[in-house]
Amino acid sequence: MAIVLRSPEEVEKLRASNRAVALVMKELRRAVKAGVTTLELDALAEKLLLEMGAKPAFKGYRGYKHTLCTSVNEQVVHGVPSKRKLKEGDIISIDIGAKLDGYYGDHAATMPVGEVDGAARRLIRCCEEALAKGIGKALSGRRLFDISHAIQAHAEGAGFSVVRAYVGHGIGTSLHEEPQVPNFGEPGTGPELKPGMVLAIEPMLNAGVADVKVLGDDWTVVTADARLSAHFEHTLAISADGPDVLSLAP
Ligand code: MF3
Ligand code: CO
Repeated sequence: MAIVLRSPEEVEKLRASNRAVALVMKELRRAVKAGVTTLELDALAEKLLLEMGAKPAFKGYRGYKHTLCTSVNEQVVHGVPSKRKLKEGDIISIDIGAKLDGYYGDHAATMPVGEVDGAARRLIRCCEEALAKGIGKALSGRRLFDISHAIQAHAEGAGFSVVRAYVGHGIGTSLHEEPQVPNFGEPGTGPELKPGMVLAIEPMLNAGVADVKVLGDDWTVVTADARLSAHFEHTLAISADGPDVLSLAP
């Protein structure tokens, strides 16, 4: 399978599904507080998506049973919603996918639970900035790994490490399409970026080592050294007018 170029009409459908996940994320930000369980967040997200006529994209994917991935503290990605109560000082990475009218949306963000320490705040801010740096290179005529390199340079420049074992991806009528979008790489290499390419860019940054492991539930990915991790994801379309970030709430 080659990289698919989407028509303007398809990009609008992708905008609708991505706007849906962004709107849900906005609500989840308000709901995240000490005492709430990750299962309660999951139920809220599912309800809101269904109200918008969208379907949770992760539910049923490789046997996954939930709408969200909720990854707390040293959990990197794919944390499974549970009765665990968030507590003041935690950080939580929320990842949400949706399918609307046949097209997928995918979006993630890390946020503090109440007041968190400076190290956690810096990690979250750096990860969000790294994503923005990557998006800044998502320009027609550039190469895919220009995006990857920009993310890596920003993260490592700040003293954080980039997870290698999981990467971003093309997205469209499937959740995961070509190409893979690593968060590390050589600038000036990789496929040429062209209008109509739609990418989910999703840096995962660790406070300590880049290594990760998967817990016994076969889903939850944690840092090998149990230090904090952050994750941000936007879906965007390459366009002649610059990066068109689709996963934004109005
Ligand atoms: N947003 C993630 C991704 O892009 C999560 C998918 S894993 C799932 O790969 F199983 F929960 F769907
Ligand atoms: Co994704």
